Amino acid sequence: MKKALITGITGQDGSYLSRLLLDKGYEVHSIVRRAALEDPDHRLSRIRYLLDDIHIHSASLESFPSIFRIVDKIQPDECYHLAAQSYVSYPFEDEFSTMTTNINGTHYILSSLHSQKPDCRFYFAASSEMFGKVHEVPQHEETRFHPRSMYGISKVAGFDLTRNYREAYDMFALSGILYNHESPRRGFEFVTRKITHHAAKIKLGLADELRLGNLEAKRDWGHSNDYVKAMWLMLQQEEPDDFVVATGETHSVREFVERAFELLNLDYKQYVVEDPLFYRPAEVDILLGDASKAKTKLGWEPEYSFEDLIQEMVEADLELLKKKHNL
Ligand code: GDD
Repeated sequence: MKKALITGITGQDGSYLSRLLLDKGYEVHSIVRRAALEDPDHRLSRIRYLLDDIHIHSASLESFPSIFRIVDKIQPDECYHLAAQSYVSYPFEDEFSTMTTNINGTHYILSSLHSQKPDCRFYFAASSEMFGKVHEVPQHEETRFHPRSMYGISKVAGFDLTRNYREAYDMFALSGILYNHESPRRGFEFVTRKITHHAAKIKLGLADELRLGNLEAKRDWGHSNDYVKAMWLMLQQEEPDDFVVATGETHSVREFVERAFELLNLDYKQYVVEDPLFYRPAEVDILLGDASKAKTKLGWEPEYSFEDLIQEMVEADLELLKKKHNL
C-alpha cells in the first residue's frame, strides 16, 4: 500500500485530495498543528468525515525538527505539500509570517525528504499568482514570473526550491502552477465564496448588501475537485516536470457576481457596493492559463464549467444557511 503525506489537509484541496487518494487505496497521513487537534470540530471541519480513515500527526511547518521527525516516521512514497498561508493579503504584519511560513516550511520538507526518504515523489502547490503582472496572455510554463504580493513571492521561492532539489539531488520534485480553484469548501475570505455566501444570505433575507473590491479583476476559475486529480497525475509520470493547471477561460469578478445573483433571481446591481477597503495596492489584473501541456502529457481535462462551479457553490450555500437558521 502506497503512503501519502499531505500538508494542508484541513483546506479545500486537502479534503478533496485525501478522498481521491483513499479511493485509490493509499494510506493517507497528514500533519496538523496541535491547536487544530485541540479544536477538531472547528479546524478539522472539512475532513471530519475522513477522520477515521486518515492518520493525523501533530507537527508545525515552522519547526524543522517536527517535520523531520514525521517524515522519518512515515517514510512516505508521495508527498503533497499544499499547506501555506494562502490568502493574498497586504497588511504589513502578515508579510513576514507569509514569507517565513511558506518558504521555510517548503524548505524543511524538501530537506527532510532528501535526508530521510529521497525517493519520495514531491508535489509543490505553486500558484498562478507567481505570474502577477503578467508578461503575456495566456500564461504557460515558460512565462516569466512577476509576483505582486508577498504570497506570490513566497510561491516563486518555493517553486525554485523545488526545482533546485530536483536538479541538485535528482529528486522527483515538481510544481503544479494552479490557477484559482474553488468549491463549496472554499474559505469565506476568498472572493468566490464571499459572493455565493452573501448572495444566498440576501436571498434568504439574512443580509442586504455585499461589499466588494475590484470588480474588473479577471481570473481563470476552476473546481478544486478537478485540480487535485491533476496533482495526482503529475506524480505518476515517468519524469518530474512542472505543469500549468487552468481551464483556459477567464472571467471578471463582476461576471461571477452577476451569474451568482442571477441564479437566485436577484439583480446584483441592487446589492453590491464597491468598497475601496477591499482594493489591493498591487492588483493582479488578469490571469488566464494555457494548460495544453497538462492536457497532452497528463491526459487531464477539467469536468466543471464556470457555470457548474457557480451553481454548485450557490446551491450549497443556500442549503447551509437554511440548515443553520432553520429556514
Ligand atoms: N478576497 C477578495 N475579497 N477578493 C476580492 C474582493 C473581496 O471583497 N473584491 C474583489 N476581489 C478581487 C481581488 O482583488 C482579486 O483580484 C480577485 O478578486 C480574486 O481574489 P481572491 O479570491 O482573494 O483570490 P486570489 O486570486 O488573490 O488568490 C487565490 O488564487 C491564487 C491562484 O492564482 C488564492 O487561492 C491563492 O492561494 C492562489 O494561489
